[in-house]
Amino acid sequence: MQPQYTEKTFSLGAMNGLSEKQITEHLKLYTGYVKNVNSLLEKTGDLKKSEAENAYVLAELRRRLGFEFNGMRLHEYYFDGLGGDGSLNTKGSLGVALTERYGSLEAWREHVTTLGKMRGIGWVITYYDPVIKTFHTAWVGDHDIGHLGGLPIISALDVWEHAFLLDYLPSERGQYIEAYFNNLRWSALEERFASAQ
Ligand SMILES: [Fe+2]
Repeated sequence: MQPQYTEKTFSLGAMNGLSEKQITEHLKLYTGYVKNVNSLLEKTGDLKKSEAENAYVLAELRRRLGFEFNGMRLHEYYFDGLGGDGSLNTKGSLGVALTERYGSLEAWREHVTTLGKMRGIGWVITYYDPVIKTFHTAWVGDHDIGHLGGLPIISALDVWEHAFLLDYLPSERGQYIEAYFNNLRWSALEERFASAQ
């Protein structure tokens, strides 16, 4: 049976520095990724009934799965991590562990911001590596290039221009990243850290 993904809903409310229009338009793009993942799975499922005959088309569709799937999943991490008041809890276990790795939560935030201002379209992801119990913050190009295999995601910052262009100019990416942090829902990140350990 073909797996099917269902679009998730997020309780975001009014946000500080991110307009309703910006969020609504961004959510429409997320919806598109969910649809595309489902349709890719369905199409490859059909086409592989004649694998040899459809080899070329199948190869291209299969190459596309990583882009569409990560486009779907990363937006779920992103929106689920928003809708909070932006306060960073230094005392919880995530706060303590991130402070150990980066020196302070402010230093972690600065580091994410620095990567977020890198040129190009993509994501800044902070992962937790349960193998040696540490964090890595990485740039992921598009939605799929540069992921750290198997590491659970703690935070995902979308720095595609579609994430902020209705509210900020391309040269104002830093202000958008500030707005992202001002609406961060820290409890979501703490829950992810708890299940990542
Ligand atoms: Fe996005």
